[in-house]
Amino acid sequence: MIKLLTIIGARPQIIKAAALSRAIKNKFQKAIQEVIVHTGQHYDENMSQVFFDELQIPSPDYNLNTGSGSHGKQTASMITGIEEILLKEKPNAIVLYGDTNSTLAGAIAASKIQVPVIHIEAGLRSYNKSMPEEINRIMCDHVSTLLFSPTKAGYENLLKEGFKSNNHAPYSFDNPKIYHCGDVMYDNSLHFSEVAEEKTTVLKHNNLKAGGFILATIHRNNNTDEPLRLNALFRALNAIATENKTKIVLPLHPRTAKLLPVNLDPELYTQVQANGYIQIIPPVSFLEIIALEKNASMVITDSGGVQKEAFFFQKPCIILRSETEWVELVECGSARITDADEIKIKEAYKHFSSAKSLNFPRLFGDGRAAEFICGEVLKYIN
Ligand code: UD1
Ligand code: UDP
Repeated sequence: MIKLLTIIGARPQIIKAAALSRAIKNKFQKAIQEVIVHTGQHYDENMSQVFFDELQIPSPDYNLNTGSGSHGKQTASMITGIEEILLKEKPNAIVLYGDTNSTLAGAIAASKIQVPVIHIEAGLRSYNKSMPEEINRIMCDHVSTLLFSPTKAGYENLLKEGFKSNNHAPYSFDNPKIYHCGDVMYDNSLHFSEVAEEKTTVLKHNNLKAGGFILATIHRNNNTDEPLRLNALFRALNAIATENKTKIVLPLHPRTAKLLPVNLDPELYTQVQANGYIQIIPPVSFLEIIALEKNASMVITDSGGVQKEAFFFQKPCIILRSETEWVELVECGSARITDADEIKIKEAYKHFSSAKSLNFPRLFGDGRAAEFICGEVLKYIN
């Protein structure tokens, strides 16, 4: 039996971790013990607890209750807490997801005391270091022992950074093993999509019809914190909704909810609030967002996870960023990068509204990435 210490903290990590916890419960219970540490980076009920209930993730064994703060303060506090737990629990490895400050804290705490790091969602790059996430993921990859990339592009990024495809066991952070293994989020979307509409009332509650609305999410720090960008994004949404009499549903991240009244031009803010076609709602649960994604006509987002889920459910996606780590979506034409450019967003909307057929090849594995990861971990972590 090996012991894995899983670090979660932000909403997408809690969701990603569900896939591995499910695989362990169903197939590897006798071989893997999982200890879950919640850093407390996200803490609102609808940013954290809702996912444990709905996705049947075991309750965290520890909660560091870190909360919000500057990058340094937040990350430092998590490193201290994670180190203490690592010393006490003595796991065989730490499991880290994605690219948040919780990921970075886990990578630093574990690697400094030589606990092997398993990085799930390794290799993704935006090649834009002004994104805090780009720094987090690069740092984490370069102290990892097993690196699981969900995409071929991610795997190739690792090769470009000097990782080798032909290292031999025993693996370590000086001799790491890299994989292209599919996406645990695809596992989750497949697993939960069948019951999403049946188990939620989000469509009915918000009076939404299949194909009759656009789903939008905005939370990326440069979009929320830079007034010029935030205004451009909301001018575009306001215009698309009004000119096309199209409903836009916007489950709003708390970061954006806090900054909207501060950074949006007051006149535009009033217009958005008064626009009957724009429905701003609190963050929704995972089953609810799947129901929204499956039934939307289009997705407009700056989220990494939502971009991909739009693709899983074969919906066109407008990406409100200057680049994406999920380059395949853009390459196959089902997503367009518009940045926070009002004109480009409107053009992309027009393009996708009249697009006859779009291409959604199977790029993210077979829905069993988590099982594969558990199998490989058992081979090489002891
Ligand atoms: C973080 C991640 C980002 C990820 C996102 C997922 C980092 C650097 N960023 O961004 O990569 O895409 O999570 O959602 O780790 N807040 C609340 N309640 C909460 C959580 C946050 O009100 O439960 C508010 C606070 O005002 C906080 C702000 O949101 O200051 C930002 O939270 P934080 O976790 O620092 O970053 P995110 O923008 O959520
Ligand atoms: N999500 C959710 N409810 C919401 C918005 C997003 O459950 O109201 C899910 C979404 O389906 C995806 C994950 O949260 O699986 C993405 O998280 P987020 O957009 O916060 O972060 P990112 O993926 O950009 O890091």
